[in-house]
Amino acid sequence: MCGIVGIVSNKSVSSSIINALKKLEYRGYDSAGISTLNNGIIEEKKCSGRVENLEKILFENPSSGDLGIGHVRWATHGVPNQINAHPHSTEKVSVVHNGIIENSDKLKMEYEKKGYKFKSQTDTEVITIILNDYLKSEDLINSIHKTLNKLVGSFALGVIFKDFKDIVVGARRGSPLAVGYGHNENFIGSDSYALKSMTNKISYLDDGDFCILHKEKVEFFNSNKQKINKEIFEVSNEDNVADKGDFKDFMSKEIDEQSNTTKKCINEYLDKSRDEINIYNIPIDPLKIKKIRLIACGTAYHSCLMAKYWIEELTSIDVEADIASEFRYRKVKLNKDDLYIFVSQSGETADTYAALEKCKKNGVKTCGIVNVVESSIARLSDFVLPIHAGPEIGVASTKAFIGQMLVLFLLILKISKDRNDIDQKEFKKIIEDVKKIPNLIKLTLTKQNEIQEIARDFIDAKGTMYLGRGYSYPIAMEGALKLKELSYIHAEGYAAGEMKHGPLALIEDGMPIVVLAPKDRFFEKTISNMQEVIARGGKVLMITNDTSETLSENIRFKFQIPDAHPNISAFLLTIPIQFLAYHVALLRNCDIDKPRNLAKSVTVE
Ligand code: G6P
Repeated sequence: MCGIVGIVSNKSVSSSIINALKKLEYRGYDSAGISTLNNGIIEEKKCSGRVENLEKILFENPSSGDLGIGHVRWATHGVPNQINAHPHSTEKVSVVHNGIIENSDKLKMEYEKKGYKFKSQTDTEVITIILNDYLKSEDLINSIHKTLNKLVGSFALGVIFKDFKDIVVGARRGSPLAVGYGHNENFIGSDSYALKSMTNKISYLDDGDFCILHKEKVEFFNSNKQKINKEIFEVSNEDNVADKGDFKDFMSKEIDEQSNTTKKCINEYLDKSRDEINIYNIPIDPLKIKKIRLIACGTAYHSCLMAKYWIEELTSIDVEADIASEFRYRKVKLNKDDLYIFVSQSGETADTYAALEKCKKNGVKTCGIVNVVESSIARLSDFVLPIHAGPEIGVASTKAFIGQMLVLFLLILKISKDRNDIDQKEFKKIIEDVKKIPNLIKLTLTKQNEIQEIARDFIDAKGTMYLGRGYSYPIAMEGALKLKELSYIHAEGYAAGEMKHGPLALIEDGMPIVVLAPKDRFFEKTISNMQEVIARGGKVLMITNDTSETLSENIRFKFQIPDAHPNISAFLLTIPIQFLAYHVALLRNCDIDKPRNLAKSVTVE
């Protein structure tokens, strides 16, 4: 994964590179580095850890130069230390790389035989060496082209050269790369967000393309080194500012925003005067859809699991939800009558993108549900539904999850209505429930202090479980994932009815257990499973809209969500499980926005 940036300008570029890198830290924060061309010499500075460490280095010892490249790393090959940090440079060439070079070991051996010495354990350094080698005998374009042809794997690259004093080169295969246009300066970046403070005019490289940035122009080439033109997009400034405001961290801000983001999303999709859902041009006529397949990773996959339950409940369509890293390699029978939905906050997740590519190659119809509308998944999908959540910076996804569920729910309702799977009356009733979601979320958000208290039960726990049935099961899985990501406590999301088939053996006296039990058709059964846990010493945090007192004596704490129709209870159950992970992590002094070993956008497989 990693984030890369490159700038060629008529003024010093290091501070702009640092600013762009800060915006790219969601892609990795194991190390940071920069190379600039200063008076004909490549100046490389890098360090392990965050961009702020690099900033300190530059404060003591500034980098000059009006062209340069920068990098933030999520380690794949080689430990996250200073030597393995990018850029990787020789005297002649400096390279930053996002992705994985799969044949790097073979290439390394080949070039070691030629007498080259490697300093790092990375897969990236071979690119520097190969390019350096070709430049001895070839011109620039041929050197780039031949180097790219030797690489197997996925990459986005930024390169500067000692002997080409006014250019930055970018290349893409598999990993995204945006090109930005400024006045007497041009840019490359892993996404348009990194470039937004400098320009809103963006083009995107396609797989196999490379580009040469000059101050006044950008040249584009395809994989046959033929010159090509690129469309220029104006990206919206609306979501330009991602700032914590008065919040301690992005995650708490993003949790707090969910009432507003759901309101905005509903306004985008719901015609309240007619109670119609404004989703048109679904690439398969809803009447003809045989099956819906939902594909995603991480939290986005949990929104797909949720959608699976809704599709079964509200439509007559067959459905499956798949993890993208599995789907992309399975021999799935792709069918023209099926609709393939890809859910991704970033729109850049490598496995989800590869799964989408597989579907596109087979000519089946695809729909992307994304937060970043300029993303690769949005651009490749036949049909795109944005979730309108605004930039999500905290690595653990919160408002995007709620947004994904909401858009999926609206799409399912639309399909269900078009097929006459639900009648008009039922549809209207559900629409009324949908309209209530932002306010009900707002109400739930006011009860944060209750979760703050109960979080103390979890801080020394060896492990915990989140249990739910039906609509609550995907939320239980999401709750466990949130706790793992943020607090590093082992947590499992389990179907409550499955506990007796093994996991019950894990329950010990005093073990904290989260039970999601809204008043739905599974309620009584969930309560029985909860009693089985309590009988074995489990200390239960029950999250429910049940108001009866009878259960209270056996459970450690009951968190009351507002009363709502079972169809929309998932939205409300989500808030306390987000708060719980957040407060446990805070009490354990974990880095909330940047949990260890993780990254927001995973652009390697
Ligand atoms: C990473 C993030 C998760 C996210 C997953 C999928 O693992 O840390 O929060 O759910 O990627 O990302 P996507 O951008 O495709 O939703």
